[in-house]
Amino acid sequence: MPRYALITGASSGIGLALAEALARRGHALILLARKRDALESIASELTQRFGVDVLYRVCDLSEPLHITGLLHELEQSEKIIDLLVNCAGMGTSGPFLSTDWSREQHLIELNVLALTRLCHALGEHMAQQGGGQILNVASIAAFQPIPLMSSYAASKAYVLHFSEGLREELKSRGVFVSVLCPGPTRTGFFRKAGMQTASMEKGKAMMSAEEVALIAMRGLAKRKAIIHCGWRNRLITLIPRFLPRLLIRKVTARIGRTLASH
Ligand SMILES: NC(=O)c1ccc[n+]([C@@H]2O[C@H](COP(=O)([O-])OP(=O)(O)OC[C@H]3O[C@@H](n4cnc5c(N)ncnc54)[C@H](OP(=O)(O)O)[C@@H]3O)[C@@H](O)[C@H]2O)c1
Repeated sequence: MPRYALITGASSGIGLALAEALARRGHALILLARKRDALESIASELTQRFGVDVLYRVCDLSEPLHITGLLHELEQSEKIIDLLVNCAGMGTSGPFLSTDWSREQHLIELNVLALTRLCHALGEHMAQQGGGQILNVASIAAFQPIPLMSSYAASKAYVLHFSEGLREELKSRGVFVSVLCPGPTRTGFFRKAGMQTASMEKGKAMMSAEEVALIAMRGLAKRKAIIHCGWRNRLITLIPRFLPRLLIRKVTARIGRTLASH
């Protein structure tokens, strides 16, 4: 019986690149996102190119009932999932009090609640099946607060801390949790979050989703706890450890202003 990797956010960006990297390595996949057309064409392309079984499920992860339906369907199908990739995520930017509440709520439901629920359900499934791996996608934004992106940075800090804690809890049950911390990556993420990327595009700050996926594959193979994406991004995550928090907030407020300026 094939073992599947379930990838959320597989319809574009980093999730799509992770799906391709896993298919290339012979993994059967279940792709998950909201856009049916995108999932359908990605699934058939990956099956054709790599000869692996690629299924897809349309699911809005901000809707608890959709997740209930998905989990029920997975249970009924008796498929074995040995890798869960929680990649679906979104950002918001701008003054918190001026952002639409429904977007803030959506962010927490997607970045925090859905990810946690899938770890809860599939972590147990993996432990009962004799083991597996979970890859949660956080960000370098997880390592410090970022004014004007406050809820996004906080949601990724949650993902980082939750993943590290869970790793220690699940190790003894054969489930290895890793957390991927990309820096700025060329995807549709910034546009959807209403953020400006001009300042990052000038330098070499941005990576491609394919580069991030390759780094993730190496990290997963080594069962790394925290997977950093390149030395620049690693350095950025280290700086807050050595600076007073007041100074960190001042620096990140500037970054937030640059990203959120319309
Ligand atoms: N790009 C960066 O610079 C960067 C840096 C660090 C971390 N990250 C993180 O990387 C992850 C992937 O982002 P990305 O850059 O690849 O952006 P992206 O291209 O916008 O991908 C987001 C993915 O999430 C899915 N998604 C969004 N809302 C959803 C919902 N309610 N239910 C189910 N799926 C949903 C989208 O698919 P549908 O629209 O089809 O649902 C899409 O597949 C996110 O967690 C993000 O925070 C990104």
